Amino acid sequence: MKVLILAAGLGKRMKSKYPKVVHKILGKPMINWVVDLGKAFGEVGVVVGHKADIVKSYLPEDVKTYLQEPQLGTGHAVMCARDFISKNEDLLVLYGDVPLLSKETINKLKKEHEEQKNQVTVLTFVTDNPAGYGRIIRENGKVRIVEDKDATEEEKKIKEVNSGIYIFSGKFVLENLDKLSNNNAQGEYYLTDLVGMADRSSTVILEDIVEVSGVNDRIQLAQLETIAKQRILEKLMLSGVTIVDPNSTFIGPDVEIGMDTIIYPFTIIEGYTKIGEDCEIGPYSHIVDSNIGNEVKVIRSEVEKSVIENKVSVGPFSRLREGTVLKEKVKIGNFVETKKTTVGKNSKAQHLTYLGDATIGEDVNVGAGTITCNYDGYKKYPTYIGDGAFIGSNTSLVAPVNIGKGAITGAGSVITEDVPNDALALGRARQIIKEGWAKKKREELKNADHKE
Ligand code: UD1
Ligand code: CA
Repeated sequence: MKVLILAAGLGKRMKSKYPKVVHKILGKPMINWVVDLGKAFGEVGVVVGHKADIVKSYLPEDVKTYLQEPQLGTGHAVMCARDFISKNEDLLVLYGDVPLLSKETINKLKKEHEEQKNQVTVLTFVTDNPAGYGRIIRENGKVRIVEDKDATEEEKKIKEVNSGIYIFSGKFVLENLDKLSNNNAQGEYYLTDLVGMADRSSTVILEDIVEVSGVNDRIQLAQLETIAKQRILEKLMLSGVTIVDPNSTFIGPDVEIGMDTIIYPFTIIEGYTKIGEDCEIGPYSHIVDSNIGNEVKVIRSEVEKSVIENKVSVGPFSRLREGTVLKEKVKIGNFVETKKTTVGKNSKAQHLTYLGDATIGEDVNVGAGTITCNYDGYKKYPTYIGDGAFIGSNTSLVAPVNIGKGAITGAGSVITEDVPNDALALGRARQIIKEGWAKKKREELKNADHKE
């Protein structure tokens, strides 16, 4: 089946510089919720219009886009994507601003469509508040939809309404699309009119209205975020993850977490993140697009685009930036920042350190206050630290530089040259002692005071 997502609309009530469908729910833009759902059913095409370039920049490369400019209605949107439609395949139509639709619902719609050999199957729901929606009218075993603005007083009382989600036969769409007219109250080409042209049509009534709830303003955006969040957390808890405080925990739809992991309060986990079993995450942690093994602790820390192997401990107050790889049993401690850095098995950087563009071996001890000086204002350079090396506190490693295996750098050193294996490197001014100097100075000052 082909999947066409309509996302050309303006979204005026968002009061935003950005197109509506790129606003996020649990860290994931609405359009990407819909694209990912669509991908489970077939090739995806998106109709873009309002701020098309911004919407396109959020879409995966294998998604085709069709420009609708100006926007003359949902039927016109499908006309603009005519090239996408295949006469041999069904066409699932979704909206870019309806993010919480489930696979199960689409499967039900698909089943009905196939079993009835329909030309169109409409997803509907029943509401006490049908104003604004197209009403479902059944006549002679067929379905017809009348839009709110075109409905008679009698029709307006109908409580079964159109969700805007349909499966069409591609052949039926191609044969009838040109018959749509804009001769109606809104002067638009209605996709709903195609439904009335079908000889074989039926509906699937959805119980869970949340799934077809659209986002029109930021209040609805927050409402859907709350519902989505609750559903994700409940699923995780039922699969064996402890969420200490669901109110202050935000976990995105593409996050996987293993059994017996505990998520402490005020923690946000987003993007394509995977966390293993028996981990302790939080409190106050933010993890994005990262891969975390088993028995890992992340306390009060930021983790982005990083890989963390088993039994690693991170934090409190660490910041792991893009390209960080921490091998087994590594300890990254208080106020340590890493970027594009691999830290080997059992190595430690426990206090106040910056490691950028560094490759660090196994069993290395990085002393407090160590800085890799990886940037000279123009370019970035690498630092290599061999297995078993000991970097003294407050060492500046001026890259590019190579510290040999088992080597030691003296505390406070500025290391500008490579250090051979097992050597001691000192790069600091030699200490001078001036006996009695301090006392003498004090007495001088005292005498000067008396004279005044
Ligand atoms: C449409 C349906 C209505 C249904 C309602 C459900 C029609 C004529 N009516 O209403 O029966 O109850 O959805 O929400 O289809 N869009 C475009 N191009 C356009 C117009 C819209 O891409 O020219 C997109 C919008 O971005 C949005 C979706 O289509 O994602 C629905 O548009 P919207 O204006 O909200 O729907 P209505 O026409 O009010
Ligand atoms: Ca609408």
